[in-house]
Amino acid sequence: MANIEILPTLRWEGPAVGGTLVLLDQTRLPGETVDLRCDTVDAAWDAIKRLVVRGAPAIGVAAAYATLLSLRELNDAPDADASNKTTTREIAATVTAACDHLATSRPTAVNLFWALDRMRATVAHWEQQREDDSPAGGQLGAELGELLLSEARAIHAEDRDMCAAIGRHGADALAELPAGAGILTHCNAGALATAGDGTALSVIFELARRDRQPHVWVDETRPLLQGARLTAWELTQRGVDCTLICDNMAAAVMQAGRVQAVVTGADRIAANGDAANKIGTYGVATLAAAHGIPFYIAAPTSTFDMALASGAAIPIEEREREEVTCGFGRETAPAGVRVFNPAFDVTPARLIRGIITERGVITPVTAGAVAATLAAGSLS
Ligand code: MRU
Repeated sequence: MANIEILPTLRWEGPAVGGTLVLLDQTRLPGETVDLRCDTVDAAWDAIKRLVVRGAPAIGVAAAYATLLSLRELNDAPDADASNKTTTREIAATVTAACDHLATSRPTAVNLFWALDRMRATVAHWEQQREDDSPAGGQLGAELGELLLSEARAIHAEDRDMCAAIGRHGADALAELPAGAGILTHCNAGALATAGDGTALSVIFELARRDRQPHVWVDETRPLLQGARLTAWELTQRGVDCTLICDNMAAAVMQAGRVQAVVTGADRIAANGDAANKIGTYGVATLAAAHGIPFYIAAPTSTFDMALASGAAIPIEEREREEVTCGFGRETAPAGVRVFNPAFDVTPARLIRGIITERGVITPVTAGAVAATLAAGSLS
């Protein structure tokens, strides 16, 4: 596998207060590699909503940095503290409001809420440490900004480490596959979706590093083609052997004996192991079961939502009808036709052979095994 660094999916540039969130614009891939610079919370919200940055872990990291933009806006405002009257409480409320707003950008991936909760906790802790509610003085929120930036950087670095560990555990779990085995994946759970090498793709990259020569079957992933535009691009860039197929070809490829395992990412995993991922994943898992092919989910522990007993409670995002009727600028359906466009579906735990986390592989997938892994601590 070529040791090529994929362009960074996202980064923070500049100081804590006054810096910019820079995103690789994934809506333009694979044709163009251009950055989108976000200087306001609204710009970051819009970028998450439009899938400029997407993938559960990546939107969590992006949102964490985006909270800092509220401090930039506070200082950039024309009436910014000419009289140094803005108080600790007002600064804290500004950042907390930004967290609340960013949380409305997309509903399904729990990593978004998980990261924003960490940023909220940073604000609350800072507020408690400041004994009085006196005017902040100087650059508004300078001290809080440093704390927020270091928390966002910690979330970023932890995600990178989790991806690497997922790759190792997943490659161990798939060690019995013959060299050159076919592995099917759906959507994009690669470097573009995380701060590291990805989740599902991290497993594949690690197999390639171990010279297991995986052959990846890439579902194109209608309607927004994350598989074709992003996964096939990442694999091609890094010299991993892959074949792109339309989603409706997966059954025939499995029937022909060309797929030995399926690995996908997840956006939210309930306490019983039911896993929400890109629409179509449940179909792939059902097909895998019908053909006796092991189906794995690869996801960090930040993707688990232990507050939800089962996948039935996972909120599923519904997106604009035009994504289905007018994909990439061309009308492909009659005007006015009724459209249903859920962005995710839920794969029941019984169809999942194992959930590959940074702490090891949960198998069999039961509520007890999920709880034990989540209670276990950190990376292994
Ligand atoms: O709508 P998207 O592109 O954000 O959906 C992304 C997925 O479904 C990924 O498989 C999931 O977030 C895991 S990313 C490591």
